[in-house]
Amino acid sequence: MITTEYANGLKDVFSKSFKVGAAVSKPVLEQQDANSVFCADKLIKTHFNSITAENTMKFGWIHPEENRYNWNEPDFLADYAKKSGITMRGHTIVWHNQTPSWLFADGDAPVTKAKLFKRLEDHIIALTSRYNDIISSWDVVNEPIDTDKGDENNMRLSEWYKIGGKEIFEFAFKCMREASPNTKLFLNDYNIECGAKMEANLRYLSSMLDAGIPIDGVGLQGHFYFDFPDEKTLRNALERYSALGIEIEFTEVDISLYRWNEGRDKSDFFTVRPEDRVLDQAKRYFEIFTIARDYPSVKNITTWGIADNHTWLDNFPVKERKNWPLLFDEQYNPKPVVDQLLKR
Ligand code: XIL
Repeated sequence: MITTEYANGLKDVFSKSFKVGAAVSKPVLEQQDANSVFCADKLIKTHFNSITAENTMKFGWIHPEENRYNWNEPDFLADYAKKSGITMRGHTIVWHNQTPSWLFADGDAPVTKAKLFKRLEDHIIALTSRYNDIISSWDVVNEPIDTDKGDENNMRLSEWYKIGGKEIFEFAFKCMREASPNTKLFLNDYNIECGAKMEANLRYLSSMLDAGIPIDGVGLQGHFYFDFPDEKTLRNALERYSALGIEIEFTEVDISLYRWNEGRDKSDFFTVRPEDRVLDQAKRYFEIFTIARDYPSVKNITTWGIADNHTWLDNFPVKERKNWPLLFDEQYNPKPVVDQLLKR
């Protein structure tokens, strides 16, 4: 039963500005917790009006063999979104991770550039014809920029890029536009809110927009930290991307209670949730939601999960290290910041 306290959820409070989303999976949505009045399904219905498949629309999951698609969970999620009257973000078409081994090979040889284009086109047609009625934005290209190990143009040396060149990304956007004319097309990446990687992404986006490539927006993944980003950094990023005249979606927000380099050894893991850092995390969440309201280009804020009982950060960047990065705790209770946001 949903208590009246939550009759108005986050999605309602922010409905004039942006959608509020969460990454989900079938097991997460089906999970019931006997110790809690809440569960993922109830929280979605109360607070969220957008979902993203955490994994199962990625190339390797949905298209594991050249002539086989795995529609099972993606269909379940698409139906769930339809029945709940909410939208879906598509994640993701061209990414260097979670790709199937057949994709870049042709027998014992590497696939040719022409054949890779054709495979991508077939994949796009299959996915869009199935989900065009529910997916409102797609992360067409994910994480193509690498300012550490990329080439002289900061392009990540992925199989996609090594075989297909920059043209494969441009082709992906053009092909998506043709196959899915009403869907917003996004370039998605992490750590692009400041510094060299933000500049590289701004340059890349500008060059593609100048060349007439159909890109509607930038996805800021938003894998943040309890002490990052501060308000100034966030506003600066939103101003810089807004100035390109494109939309912005926060696509994968979670706020780690560890700094990037911390907690690498088991002896340094938190054994209980560090409450001082939860307070800082609350500030970050509060700022993201309230600052985003000042920028009309922001259309969606999606968290990468729902509650702290299921988060990829329990295994990244360190295996089996508990983290508490989301808006709801391990029993699906709202953290205090949710109540603060509901009052806005
Ligand atoms: C992550 C999932 O959450 C994990 O379950 C999986 O093991 C690895 O991928 N950037 C992305 C997401 O674009 O697709 C990633 O999701 C997290 C980083």
